[in-house]
Amino acid sequence: MFLQNAWYVAAWDSEIGEGPFNRTILNEPVVMFRTPDGIVALEDRCCHRALPLSMGKVVGAHIQCGYHGLEFDATGACVKVPGQTKVPPGAEVRSYPVIERWGMVWIWTGDPAKADDTLLPDWWWLDSDDWKTIPGRGGTPMPVEANYLLISDNLFDITHLSYVHQTSIGNDAIVDFPPKTERFARCVKMTRLVTDRPPAPFYKKAGGFDGNVDRFLVTTSDMPGYIVNHAGTFHVDMDLQPGEVTEEHGVEMKVMNMPTPETETSSHYFYAHARHFKIDDPDWDEIYRTQFTQVFEEDQVILNAQQARMSEMPDAMEIDINGDAPNIQVRRLMDELIAAEQAELTGIRKSA
Ligand code: FES
Ligand SMILES: [Fe+2]
Repeated sequence: MFLQNAWYVAAWDSEIGEGPFNRTILNEPVVMFRTPDGIVALEDRCCHRALPLSMGKVVGAHIQCGYHGLEFDATGACVKVPGQTKVPPGAEVRSYPVIERWGMVWIWTGDPAKADDTLLPDWWWLDSDDWKTIPGRGGTPMPVEANYLLISDNLFDITHLSYVHQTSIGNDAIVDFPPKTERFARCVKMTRLVTDRPPAPFYKKAGGFDGNVDRFLVTTSDMPGYIVNHAGTFHVDMDLQPGEVTEEHGVEMKVMNMPTPETETSSHYFYAHARHFKIDDPDWDEIYRTQFTQVFEEDQVILNAQQARMSEMPDAMEIDINGDAPNIQVRRLMDELIAAEQAELTGIRKSA
């Protein structure tokens, strides 16, 4: 079950060209297209005989079904039926509220009357000239055959860096430093400080460090899954806080992860990197655009295999370890938000 009253990333806006673009989101087929007034998202099923509207074409501000030519506007209303003057009552498809921000198309999957843009994450650095942002995988989501919460678990479980990403962002030092977990109304935050240890290979290259470094890793998740890994690596004994690392100290970056559920066992994994160093260096744009994909592919292998085995053995036992504390908090908070939403929906149905 998913949290419905929430924004999810439906696409990078660069993915949506002249024609219709389809994607399954929270088990629902969605078609997106551009109109002169912006991007529109509708149910991808014609209300006449169920052909996916994404098989049709965009005509001005409408989408035309590819079977019998019915046309729908941005609200989902059928506005034209070829060969007749009247549109039958009830001829409409579902329309989803959409916001375009930071090059992403955010879709509201719940009650349109509750769509609330204050629930978008506060990612101020995406509007800052001091940070440079590169969308992951050239502006396409990574397909992951796993539930989106397994991606969330992965991002809070920093200990896996030492095993899955040994050659890039991991090293053995991380597991020696336990995380601190904090919980807020709609957010979980994990902080881990690693002091006086060798830099991970990627940071050694980025910061040109010779000796040991201090490092912070702060992961926050605003529900239902706006997960930011904020990482800083700098010369030892500087006692720097997140946001204070300049190029003279070391390197600082944020990875934004937006796993959007496709089904219960698959996700569209959107991600992007924002860096606070070498922001005018095109070589580093390219490193984030291409080389960092390898790190995500290492996780993809793990996540796909994990979900496959979980699906084969749904009732098998699992144990928890100390490093799971933050992601247990995330799952608990998600369960509470979903339960509250369901209770409200049940109340509405009873009083109707
Ligand atoms: S199925 Fe869409 S117009 Fe007939
Ligand atoms: Fe990972």
